[in-house]
Amino acid sequence: MKPKKIKQFYLLYNRIVSPYQAKHLSKEEKISIGAFYTPPEIVSKTVEYISPYLKNKDITVADLSAGAGAFILPFKDYDYRAIDYDYSVINYLRNQLDEDKVIHTNSLLKVRRSKFRIPRNNFLIITGNPPYNDITSVYKKNGKGEFICDPDLYDNDIGICFLKAFNKLKADLVCVVHPFSYIGKRWNFVRIKDFTSNYRLVKGVLFPSTMFKYTSRTSPFTVMIALYERDKNGMTYDYIENFEFKILNTDKKFVLNDYSTTDGYINKYQPRKNSLLKESPIGLYYYSFRDLNSVKRNTTFIDKKHDFAVVVTLEEFYKYAYLHCIRKLLKTEYMWLFGNLSPLVDIEFLEENKAIFVYYALESSSTLKSFNKEVIDLIRKTYLKNFSLTLEQSKNLILEHFKSLFKINEAI
Ligand SMILES: C[S@@+](CC[C@H](N)C(=O)[O-])C[C@H]1O[C@@H](n2cnc3c(N)ncnc32)[C@H](O)[C@@H]1O
Repeated sequence: MKPKKIKQFYLLYNRIVSPYQAKHLSKEEKISIGAFYTPPEIVSKTVEYISPYLKNKDITVADLSAGAGAFILPFKDYDYRAIDYDYSVINYLRNQLDEDKVIHTNSLLKVRRSKFRIPRNNFLIITGNPPYNDITSVYKKNGKGEFICDPDLYDNDIGICFLKAFNKLKADLVCVVHPFSYIGKRWNFVRIKDFTSNYRLVKGVLFPSTMFKYTSRTSPFTVMIALYERDKNGMTYDYIENFEFKILNTDKKFVLNDYSTTDGYINKYQPRKNSLLKESPIGLYYYSFRDLNSVKRNTTFIDKKHDFAVVVTLEEFYKYAYLHCIRKLLKTEYMWLFGNLSPLVDIEFLEENKAIFVYYALESSSTLKSFNKEVIDLIRKTYLKNFSLTLEQSKNLILEHFKSLFKINEAI
């Protein structure tokens, strides 16, 4: 290409590529490489968090999934690395930044500092928003071939591979954006033991995934801006359960331990163990659920045995009536925050007020309305002796209860 043509090409290209939106990629391409770029307001929070650490000597700031460089551009005056394997953005980055500091590679393969030309003794700050998606579905569905990474970094979720890579590089500071569930869910926390046993969360701010362009509006999840310091004592899950997370652009806080969920109290899945009841003595089942999102999405009571159904017994009917009420009545602007957790429950309140939930369920579930009359009579006899509230009164009490249960507290 003639120099003039090249210049024109880049002028056009720069207009297409934006540091904050992967405009140059089709929807399918965005999904296949997890290219959902971060809006400026989130990037600037990471810059604010990193700033106090810039006074360290011999710093390198690196983004291993740099996209069009949103997280690296603010650190142009420092030693930096912008790394990505999307060749189209690498060309753009080379045009914007120092060519030597822009690296086109798979960041998860042969991970060591020398590969990225990061000096061994430098204070390494990792920033960015690594892709998060399930490699089995994404790579297979898009015919992208095999996903390749160092065996010790392997995980089904590519974002977790990145966290492990940060640890492998012995980054001194990690200030990245990632799903809250990586550390908020006990099972994931254990899954990233390599990372959690070497880093300690210092700051955490939560926001809804809908802040990213082109993402699903229907099932939002909680994303987090996280600041971790390398710490040989690491952190425990208990530390995370008591950690005060802030909610972006509000004065509110979120502490996991302020809430209790149905875990260990209401069965979520169909029984596996032989010792557990596989058939309902009253012929009633409830659609299994993973979290609050699935309770809201799925059907509720089912009148026949089903592969994805939990057995409902007379003794535990009220617990499923409670879930049914959540499905029907719960409305919260913080669905993005609670949706990935199991449904919340105040066990004491539910145990004392079984009748309200049972009554509302009997009156509002179409399955129950047309269900075996004898069983329904038995349920009424068991739970509704001397019950005198109207449907409207029951509904209002439940709504009020949900309001206080799914409440976000003010940060003091
Ligand atoms: C969520 S985007 C983030 C882009 C940018 N940091 C931002 O937030 O605006 C993820 C980026 O990771 C890149 N990526 C995905 N897997 C990668 C890998 N194994 N090695 C290097 N880059 C990768 C994608 O090309 C994409 O640009």
